[in-house]
Amino acid sequence: MKYLKSTRRLISRDTNGRFISAVENSVLEKNVDFKNALPYRSVPGPKPLPYLGNTWRFIPFVGDFEIEHIDKVSERLYKRYGKIVKMEGLLGRPDMVFLFDPDDIEKVFRQEDILPYRPSMPSLNYYKHVYRKEFFGEHGGVIAVHGEKWQSFRSKVNQIMMQPRIAKMYVKAIESTAQEFVDRIEYLKNEDYELSEDLLNELHKWSLECNYSKSSSRCSFGLFGQKFSPRYPKINKRCEYIFLLTYRSSNSKFHFGKYSEPPTFVKYIEALDTIRVICMKYINKSLEDLKSSGSGNEISVLQRVLRLENDPKIAIILALDMFLVGIDTTSNAAASVLYQLAIHPDKQQILKDEVLRILPDTSTPITNQRLEQMQYLRACIKETMRMYPVVIGNGRQTTKDCVIFQHYVISNQEQYFPESKEFLPERWLKSCHLYKEYHPFASLPFGFGRRMCLGRRFAELELQILLAKVIRSYSIEYHHEKLDYFIHPMYTPNGPLKLKFIKR
Ligand code: HEM
Repeated sequence: MKYLKSTRRLISRDTNGRFISAVENSVLEKNVDFKNALPYRSVPGPKPLPYLGNTWRFIPFVGDFEIEHIDKVSERLYKRYGKIVKMEGLLGRPDMVFLFDPDDIEKVFRQEDILPYRPSMPSLNYYKHVYRKEFFGEHGGVIAVHGEKWQSFRSKVNQIMMQPRIAKMYVKAIESTAQEFVDRIEYLKNEDYELSEDLLNELHKWSLECNYSKSSSRCSFGLFGQKFSPRYPKINKRCEYIFLLTYRSSNSKFHFGKYSEPPTFVKYIEALDTIRVICMKYINKSLEDLKSSGSGNEISVLQRVLRLENDPKIAIILALDMFLVGIDTTSNAAASVLYQLAIHPDKQQILKDEVLRILPDTSTPITNQRLEQMQYLRACIKETMRMYPVVIGNGRQTTKDCVIFQHYVISNQEQYFPESKEFLPERWLKSCHLYKEYHPFASLPFGFGRRMCLGRRFAELELQILLAKVIRSYSIEYHHEKLDYFIHPMYTPNGPLKLKFIKR
């Protein structure tokens, strides 16, 4: 079955429902027989009911599409309907077209508009563009912002955030946060070698500290002291809350704005305002530090932005976006890799051998050169992100409909990754017989193109350094029932991560 696609819209249709070409000279047009293209209405997918559309499927106890298990829902849709699936009739939402074929995903990404539009986050959009529009003014940041406004902001921060050369300057700062995390594990361990506190929560703190070191060159949030830090819940609980509500509102359960439920709305705004005010406070402090420290290289990421743009507003809004999407993603990714290593002791052993060879002593400093040599470490992260990407799908909005790239389903298929259900970091190592050239669009944990993850370079470095530090110090074990993964709203192991940390 062949569906017509165009560059501007994956699937374009005219008023009669027939496919039409939206853009001339499209690369796709060369391979597509327009005359025989099937109409949009024949794209398969769950049938909407009159009035209720497909929304009822997401209602608890009524429908069987669980928001927390969109991973399984997506797999079912693929098995039932095939490589292109249409989800229509979601109240207040545009139609969505799910793509389960990396070739199709590649075509869409390769022909991306210069101003790609990622759908979702209507609540954050409302906060930035309506509720606090005086504050944001012409700079909306990059999250929930589109068009020229997005491009103008992204181009201001891209050269600092996306250059591996710049991220590499922060290895020392990232290492010191990872060391604090390791010290904290030692402090929290009980006689059974398990933590007295929730490990994921501790990882949230680590990720928050990492973000903070991007904002300020001098001090840290001090979240890892042995005493309880009152700052932590204030920031992190609000970030978590914002993330959960932003996710829920993106899934057509409820919207903010004039139809919002007042208590939820008030709490949501309060949480966003708190983070915004904290960002303002620390950026202003950073600005003062920058003035006094001059133009040395020992400055934070946000101070670099301040130095380049000379506009504190840009740094504040970037910090806010980083806090909103840079904490849970990285902490859940770290939790997921640690869990996979704990349940695959044979792979952990290979990693341990690598790490101990490169860091013979716990005090051997981590350098860029040493990180380069830790190939198996990078492979373990890649393999975890293939099997359990923290963001299981990604999207682009075409003129009217949304296209969702189902990369979780794809990267768990035999067709693209043989022995796809096995945790095999070796498959990513060129020196190993399992290695092969995988489809470059079959596993895209950080997205692709102009809108790809802005924090990728830092997230990768933070994960590598944390894992190297932890594995250097501990053997990790897990002796409880196997955990399923669920969406909360990151794709993460469902249940307390009761890992044992046994000192080497
Ligand atoms: C393992 C950790 C992370 C994962 C898996 C991840 C994943 C993603 C994905 C899939 C996207 C959408 C990309 C697209 O549409 O093509 C994204 C966007 C984004 N990420 Fe990340 N992310 C991570 C960590 C971070 C961190 C640490 C930061 C900030 C410090 C960050 C900041 C952003 C921003 C600002 C965007 C929006 C970019 C834009 O729309 O222009 N992310 N991320």
